[in-house]
Amino acid sequence: MIKKSVKVEYSEYETLEELDEIDNKLINKAIEIAKKSYSPYSQFPVGAAVLLDNGKIFAGNNQENIAYPSGTCAERSVLNYVHGNFPKNRIKILAVTALNTASLIPVSPCGFCRQVIVEMERLQGEPMKVILHKIGGSTFVFDAAFALLPLAFDDDILKNKE
Ligand code: THU
Repeated sequence: MIKKSVKVEYSEYETLEELDEIDNKLINKAIEIAKKSYSPYSQFPVGAAVLLDNGKIFAGNNQENIAYPSGTCAERSVLNYVHGNFPKNRIKILAVTALNTASLIPVSPCGFCRQVIVEMERLQGEPMKVILHKIGGSTFVFDAAFALLPLAFDDDILKNKE
């Protein structure tokens, strides 16, 4: 038996001034769209914004439903829209933020969203930077999305099917 471990690297920023102008722009878009979230059941508004390689910015928020599992997270709202409409464009940056959180560290995407984020990064063959921001708190930056889902389910497994 060999013990193994997985290391996840990211940068933590205490202030937004330390981040690029475009990062700040995406964070602000994520905050703005979070305010329009439809989250009456959780009271937990989340916003996500992406920058495409053509310079366009898109944003999405969580959309809940009385049948709770029918709701969708902010990340998948925007990623599915962008991938459906611009399948040939690469996503350079994804920024995520949540309102109303008590913690001083940012909200991190759920497992469902991580699987989707990682697949889109793998498809485009280029890193997708992920920015997780806590309003009034710190910001975590991942240079590539795959760090969010170590040992991710991979299509090699499907290729090996009988
Ligand atoms: N949610 C997101 O939109 N993104 C995340 O990364 C975490 C969770 C939403 C789902 C649900 O509407 C609410 O936050 C509470 O879980």
